[in-house]
Amino acid sequence: MHSEAYDAFAYAYDAALGRRFFTAARALLHELLDRYPTPKRSHLDLACGTGLAMEFFRSQGWRPTGVDASVPMLEIARGRVPDARLVAGDLRALPLRGRFARITCLYDSLNHLLEREQLVAAFQGVRGVMDHDSLFFFDMNHPDIYPEVWGLAEPYTSRGEDHQLEIATTYRKRQKLATAMVRGWATIGGTRVTIREQRLQRAYSEKEIVGALEEAGLAPVDVIDFDPYQEADDVDAATVKLFFVCAPVSVGRARLS
Ligand SMILES: C[S@@+](CC[C@H](N)C(=O)[O-])C[C@H]1O[C@@H](n2cnc3c(N)ncnc32)[C@H](O)[C@@H]1O
Repeated sequence: MHSEAYDAFAYAYDAALGRRFFTAARALLHELLDRYPTPKRSHLDLACGTGLAMEFFRSQGWRPTGVDASVPMLEIARGRVPDARLVAGDLRALPLRGRFARITCLYDSLNHLLEREQLVAAFQGVRGVMDHDSLFFFDMNHPDIYPEVWGLAEPYTSRGEDHQLEIATTYRKRQKLATAMVRGWATIGGTRVTIREQRLQRAYSEKEIVGALEEAGLAPVDVIDFDPYQEADDVDAATVKLFFVCAPVSVGRARLS
């Protein structure tokens, strides 16, 4: 579905959340590209959103391809990285052929998959577009962060000249399900458009994620504690996000350690 309201959400997402997150992610990606060099230059960004990771890879001389389920998000990505290949599609059934040297899926996009089977299907899709020397970089929220941050009574707010977002979150521990009620507005083409959306996320433990990776033929080479907003000291959580570096299982840990 494509409507002005979705355009407004994509615009406000980019301004209020995406760019802030990517400032921290950029530093880590720089480090990982240095730590795991390759002469190949094909990059795939899954759930690419507004194209921030593709813009970064492009600036480093890579050829990015992006997949996202949201057409308004892809339209912003198109403006940001005009020469990227962009595909509207679902990461649970990747509509791609070919192989990519580095694959990313950032900003806890995989937490949007609410069933373990969907996570396995996404990982299988990734395995299907990897060569023996490809690597997959992704982050997911540490499960401790849901009761600590998503369970907070206070909503997150962001105000700019052309947008306002208020995100009220709740967490249902037994179902491991988090809900975000997103309200606000953004100015699109001179008109203020109302935003009213609901987003769901599922908490996965590191063990569940590693199990799903194994089922898909992937193995973690490194798992990094990632705290993009330096908030780990303020919350009772082991870490904020888990950032995985994964390889196809046939090579796995041994080749890269
Ligand atoms: C939190 S945003 C992250 C966007 C981008 N990776 C970034 O770092 O800014 C989550 C993105 O996942 C996309 N998404 C959620 N579920 C998806 C699915 N099943 N298939 C493809 N994209 C999906 C949304 O449209 C949205 O663009």
